[in-house]
Amino acid sequence: MRKFLIAGNWKMHKGVSETSAFIESLLATDPTPAVDVVVSPPFTSLPTAAMLLTGSEIGLAAQNVHWESSGAFTGELSSEMLVEIGASWVIVGHSERRTLFGETDRTARDRARAAQQAGLKVIYCIGETLEERESERTFEVLESQTDGLGALESAELVVAYEPVWAIGTGRTASPEQAQEAHAFVRGCLERAFSTERAESIRILYGGSLKPTNAHELLSKPDVDGGLIGGASLDVDSFSAIIRAAAECAAGE
Ligand code: 13P
Repeated sequence: MRKFLIAGNWKMHKGVSETSAFIESLLATDPTPAVDVVVSPPFTSLPTAAMLLTGSEIGLAAQNVHWESSGAFTGELSSEMLVEIGASWVIVGHSERRTLFGETDRTARDRARAAQQAGLKVIYCIGETLEERESERTFEVLESQTDGLGALESAELVVAYEPVWAIGTGRTASPEQAQEAHAFVRGCLERAFSTERAESIRILYGGSLKPTNAHELLSKPDVDGGLIGGASLDVDSFSAIIRAAAECAAGE
């Protein structure tokens, strides 16, 4: 029922020329109708990416957005600005924004709400740290990070479960750990929305997802795709993950 979504978060990688080369190669690969695909280049590459992706099914995400439409917010960009240059998605609340740049649940929710009001679809990131997992507080953290999401529009919302200890570390959550967390998050979404709506919201896994572990993770019933960092920077590995999702969609 839920269509797989494979999203590449490029973080602070790829200027305009590398972005063009990547997207041209990606467009040259066979499209996979069973899987939604999104790429998220840095801000300066978004206009070029938007131009190259015109007419394709591949979505374009920004990596952050401010909650106001305009104003004295040096260094920030508004949803309206992102829509104007052709973005259709935005990633909100990434753990790197939380740990390095002071993002909180409150600011993440404000960004998500403003983005949706301007017509952007939101990939909302949550996930526990290693210390939180080891002190058995994972569920408590996921519950508080999803608190208040009910104010968002469920049809334009994707949640990304990214255990912080698995991001960029090569240490992936086991398929069982991912499924357990995703099922718990779905329960939180049921309370925030309704059972029916929660069933339709895609929950992506992120954290050292790569071609070699994609199939086993994506086979789990509540894992509806991936938010991929390092392995999304190379067209071959990103395409291999898209193919793994297509195989899972076909029940293989
Ligand atoms: P890695 O795939 O490099 O672990 O990064 C995951 C991530 O943070 C995606 O948003």
